[in-house]
Amino acid sequence: MRIMEKEDLPLFAEWVNKPAVFGEYNPLHQMSRTEAEKMFENPLELKPFIIEKKDGNKIGFVAHFYVLHVAGKQLEIGYSLVPSERGKGYCTEAVKIMVDYLFLSKDTMRIQAQTDQRNVGSQKVLEKAGFKKEGTLRKNFFMRGEWRDAYIYSILREEWKEPKILTKTT
Ligand SMILES: CC(C)(COP(=O)(O)OP(=O)(O)OC[C@H]1O[C@@H](n2cnc3c(N)ncnc32)[C@H](O)[C@@H]1OP(=O)(O)O)[C@@H](O)C(=O)NCCC(=O)NCCS
Repeated sequence: MRIMEKEDLPLFAEWVNKPAVFGEYNPLHQMSRTEAEKMFENPLELKPFIIEKKDGNKIGFVAHFYVLHVAGKQLEIGYSLVPSERGKGYCTEAVKIMVDYLFLSKDTMRIQAQTDQRNVGSQKVLEKAGFKKEGTLRKNFFMRGEWRDAYIYSILREEWKEPKILTKTT
């Protein structure tokens, strides 16, 4: 996993724009390359990381960003893999690495994630990475012409306890 660079933006925009890649449970918003470039300057502080195989093949991303609230901001993650690389454990590994990285680098008590209630694969990824389901966000996303319920998950620093994949010294 590595931080996304400007050169990756065309591929990132391609993934986000393709329903087959972004999946059935993500918005259908279309993003131009210019908008993808602006994404790095927005107040959500979106930071996508590319998931790259040892042979250099780029297979998806996991991103962290902030959900803003007048009382503070919540650190949240999201992810997507190209269809041919799903079901091989890559997303679970990437989320575990992201959780290690965020608890080692940011002074945050919790990391959260939201997922469509029907997105069983995403829920399994979160549970395998140590997240707990907190509850249902009713009619939370307007997607593909309908309001969809979502589950909100989180992992607390005290539940994480220590790095699972990253170490403190490398
Ligand atoms: C959801 C997604 C990220 C899962 O990534 P992945 O790399 O395939 O997940 P993993 O291989 O790490 O699988 C983790 C577990 O979920 C299961 N799983 C994965 N996809 C599944 C699906 N569609 N239905 C049921 N279970 C699924 C796996 O079998 C595995 O369980 P197991 O260890 O008990 O066998 C991937 O399907 C994807 O990119 N989907 C489109 C985008 C998306 O929905 N992103 C999340 C938005 S919240």
